[in-house]
Amino acid sequence: MCGIVGYIGVKPVKQILIDGLRELEYRGYDSAGIAVLQNNTFSLFKAVGKLVNLEEKAKNFETEGFSIGIGHTRWATHGKPTELNAHPHLGENSYVVHNGIIENYQELKASLMAQGVQFLSQTDTEVIVHLFEHHLKTASDAFDAFKKTLVQLEGAYAILLINSNESGTIFFAKHGSPMIIGRNEAGEILFGSSDAALIGKCHEVIYLEDGHYGYGSAKGISLFDQNHQPVALRFSPLAENKLSAQKEGYRFFMEKEIYEQSRVLADTLMGRLRDESVYFEEIDPELFQGINEIKLCACGTSYHAAMVASYLFERHAKIKTSVEIASEFRYREPFLTQDTLFVVISQSGETADTLESLKMAKKFGLKTMVICNVDNSSMVRLADASILTRAGIEKGVASTKAFATQVCVLWMLSLSLAGERHTLEASEIQNQIHLLRTLPSTVTVDSALHEQLRRLSKRYLHGHGFFFIGRDVFFPLALEGALKLKEISYLHAEGYPSGEMKHGPIALADPKLFTIALLPQHKLYDKTKSNIEELSARDSTICSISPLDFDKADDHIRTKPSEHYMCEFFEMMVVLQLLSMEIAIRLGNDVDMPRNLAKSVTVE
Ligand code: G6P
Repeated sequence: MCGIVGYIGVKPVKQILIDGLRELEYRGYDSAGIAVLQNNTFSLFKAVGKLVNLEEKAKNFETEGFSIGIGHTRWATHGKPTELNAHPHLGENSYVVHNGIIENYQELKASLMAQGVQFLSQTDTEVIVHLFEHHLKTASDAFDAFKKTLVQLEGAYAILLINSNESGTIFFAKHGSPMIIGRNEAGEILFGSSDAALIGKCHEVIYLEDGHYGYGSAKGISLFDQNHQPVALRFSPLAENKLSAQKEGYRFFMEKEIYEQSRVLADTLMGRLRDESVYFEEIDPELFQGINEIKLCACGTSYHAAMVASYLFERHAKIKTSVEIASEFRYREPFLTQDTLFVVISQSGETADTLESLKMAKKFGLKTMVICNVDNSSMVRLADASILTRAGIEKGVASTKAFATQVCVLWMLSLSLAGERHTLEASEIQNQIHLLRTLPSTVTVDSALHEQLRRLSKRYLHGHGFFFIGRDVFFPLALEGALKLKEISYLHAEGYPSGEMKHGPIALADPKLFTIALLPQHKLYDKTKSNIEELSARDSTICSISPLDFDKADDHIRTKPSEHYMCEFFEMMVVLQLLSMEIAIRLGNDVDMPRNLAKSVTVE
């Protein structure tokens, strides 16, 4: 979602804010802005669109000596992506940046307007700065006004606020959206909605908890909890390496991340495979004691990984497994039993619906676990146990390597559970461990295959829609293939279980309906083949993906022969990712920052 940065110190503030925003830009990029306060004077720059537009506007602006500043890159929730709606938002002499949603902003706005306050934007955020200034009239000082403001806000927020009478202070608050404060030996203080914005600039950071608020200045940081009690500052070291991904010659981060899958899968496997068992050092086997059911919960691509796991957990570990979309789970009054392990899956560890579902499960007293790519994220800090997927920073909004590593971890977990529960023959576990070791080579991109997909993509730019079909774990892979395509090409695509097509969707079949058919050799080959033939008979245009020849298809992508359907799964995953990317590139789209999307959805 949106990104926030803040800075207190003597270095040129503009560059620090823009560098930080650049690290966060992939999360939201419909507009950006910075506000700098030096010697009681504000300088403000805002621009619609990507960060380069803001850089251009602020190109002649420089500061010397001490100053403070706040910056924001936006993914619109309330109000269109215009300059007026871009953050920072101004009151009379204060500016605010905010991530999250203020749920009661309409009533607050109405009451302020009744008192003569004028609003410029359509955002929920603007209410914060006006409310602050309203309280400033009667409060003992600015911090008191800030506290009074927070008490009235409902919803989720991470906030930075500056006021011209307090020229060296940034007020901050966190409730439901992430906020991190860092400091370094030079005495500078930085704020960020993710540590990615602070890496290389700070050596230690505090990950704020919900309800935390306070202020920072050249003198240091004052932090309070939701009961208004002072909180001791507990810093954690921050990685010094600037891990920030560079494109390294690839056209898009997405392409680089697809090619990186081989290396990151090797990292995911590292130290976790023994000859006869899978071992997660970070998991205490006690976690699974007394557990008779696993409930997996996630959003988006992570939800598709969860669906794959539901097949593998039941098949390998003979444990009842259910899958939940987090935004549904939260409000459907689920019936939960204490013998359930609640597992959330999230690339970012910050997705609002998944995080809230995790909180619900904890509140209900369930044991919890997270499978996540970001250490120190909110979910990792909250869950009883966590397994890190080790995909590295994923910048492309359309998830690729994060999905690959999630499925890899879940496959390993299914084998680890099978070992504990004695539900698979030892020889079968060994065989699958051997297959897991081959994954890095399975997903290595073959340049001839990539070229074939690039050429093929030109035939799939029109039509009235795509169906991605598959059975078993290839059904969630079909869903993921369809999601990839629609995310970056803006073409209509649906994933379907192959056997379900005849129950309605086949009515759409005609030459302009493109079917991308996943036809693995080692899982329900004949059944899937018949389903594809049914579509072929109705003249749908078919692109089949299989290691075996298939003469009823218009186009055929031949995958390598392999021993097991999970290896076929990973190879087909790469094919789907590349095909979507090549279609989107031909359509002229920005593959890394597709319209309307955000990398980390921290609002519900
Ligand atoms: C957003 C992203 C998706 C992602 C989903 C869940 O919609 O665009 O790529 O799958 O959020 O994110 P998470 O970080 O929880 O895996």
